[in-house]
Amino acid sequence: MSVALVTGAARQRGIGRATALRLARDGHDVACLDIARPYEEAPAHGVASGGDLDSVVAEIEALGRRAIAVRADVSDEDEVTAAVAAGSEALGTITLVANVAGGSGPGFGFGPLIAVPAAEFRRVLDVNVTGTWLVSKACAARMVAAGVGGRICNVSSQAGKRGFPLLGAYCAAKAAVILLTQTMAMELGPSGIAVNAVCPGTVDTELTNAGGILQQTFGESILREIPLGRFQTAEEIAATIGWLLSDDARAITGEAVNASAGQTMV
Ligand SMILES: NC(=O)c1ccc[n+]([C@@H]2O[C@H](COP(=O)([O-])OP(=O)(O)OC[C@H]3O[C@@H](n4cnc5c(N)ncnc54)[C@H](O)[C@@H]3O)[C@@H](O)[C@H]2O)c1
Repeated sequence: MSVALVTGAARQRGIGRATALRLARDGHDVACLDIARPYEEAPAHGVASGGDLDSVVAEIEALGRRAIAVRADVSDEDEVTAAVAAGSEALGTITLVANVAGGSGPGFGFGPLIAVPAAEFRRVLDVNVTGTWLVSKACAARMVAAGVGGRICNVSSQAGKRGFPLLGAYCAAKAAVILLTQTMAMELGPSGIAVNAVCPGTVDTELTNAGGILQQTFGESILREIPLGRFQTAEEIAATIGWLLSDDARAITGEAVNASAGQTMV
């Protein structure tokens, strides 16, 4: 049993929430971090959240594990530092980290690169890349200081491995997450900390499939380019993250593992 921290854990049907529940089922206590701002405030934060951290905490506690809700914007170093400190004080040293918070969408870097406003482009990089780094930095520094190893799993995307029209900011950000992952794996390996990334394909979450990017851009035509012929579920991605954070994956670090139903190779 270990203590885990999962970012982006609030949103219903989201990968973060599914990951937090998966790790709890695997026997871990979980600090659940999210910006968790209401939908009305979305433009100011470049994110549509509307999630509810308290209900995921209640679900984890019902599974017999300990959990705490920590609210932070992953791109804000002070908020991240305070959130990681609160999680550690409540549950103990965090040795498993899932960096799931991220995304893109209308008003948040989505559109042709000749038209996307610079502020939105920067915000996508800030949340997806800087946020992943800040949370890893805060947690890994504590692991190193405590002399314990650990595991980090960052969520990149198939969009970090190939271009997608209208998703230029997002592709740039998710590609950066892959090399951030490799570099952290090199720097933290000697301290016994493994760092990997998972690259989902198209997952049926509110981000993509509730009138979001997926439907606006591709509609159902995207199904034709997925060898397994269906979108993935948040639980399937959570299972891959859970595996990368488990002892079964102890030989693996610095990898960007596709979990895309074959879509990444097409
Ligand atoms: N859904 C897909 O098809 C897909 C595919 C590949 C990669 N991904 C990636 O998986 C991750 C989760 O995606 P999802 O579909 O579950 O999205 P989602 O929108 O359902 O969940 C994202 C969560 O992150 C939180 N969040 C956003 N910005 C934040 C910030 N600045 N600080 C703290 N929390 C913040 C949101 O509140 C939300 O709870 C994202 O990184 C996304 O880019 C998703």
